[in-house]
Amino acid sequence: MEIRKLNSEETPPYALLLLADPSKEMIASYIDRGDCFIAEKGKHIIGVYVLLPTKAETIELMNVAVAEQQQGSGIGKRLVTDAIRVAKEKGYKTIEVCTGNSSIGQLALYQKCGFRITRVDRDYFTKHYVEVIVENGIVCRDRIRLSQDL
Ligand SMILES: CC(C)(COP(=O)(O)OP(=O)(O)OC[C@H]1O[C@@H](n2cnc3c(N)ncnc32)[C@H](O)[C@@H]1OP(=O)(O)O)[C@@H](O)C(=O)NCCC(=O)NCCS
Repeated sequence: MEIRKLNSEETPPYALLLLADPSKEMIASYIDRGDCFIAEKGKHIIGVYVLLPTKAETIELMNVAVAEQQQGSGIGKRLVTDAIRVAKEKGYKTIEVCTGNSSIGQLALYQKCGFRITRVDRDYFTKHYVEVIVENGIVCRDRIRLSQDL
């Protein structure tokens, strides 16, 4: 498997991006402002992440996603580790990531990769998403922000 930055002429892998963010409108609002990285196995794109500069010296990891058949075999961890490396190389001081209160696996993954919870935006998902999101039997209401110093 190889991880590389997507060229500006290439189309972002929307099917994968939609696994991480169910709103096409939300994805469209940030995809062009950030760098999209893909994980390839042969000719297949099996993973993606987006890095989006936010505040000064801070970059946000958005939209980490692994193709469903390939999940659970360490690719997610490799993508997050790669994003941290790229952010560090670019000279950012902080990397942030957000997920939902119901995203138990994602909260585990990010904390295993060194992120710590810094903020809870209560009712973020209830306010910004039209459809109700339910994961692990939990309604996704609150946005959990995690970060780590680089
Ligand atoms: C989240 C996602 C990217 C993870 O990718 P993956 O390739 O399946 O993850 P990995 O195989 O690298 O495993 C990640 C780690 O989290 C751990 N983990 C996952 N679910 C867990 C749980 N419920 N409890 C404890 N640990 C858990 C795994 O054990 C693993 O840690 P380990 O290597 O120490 O065992 C993938 O499931 C995905 O694409 N989901 C849909 C899109 C999405 O939700 N993206 C995130 C948006 S915030």
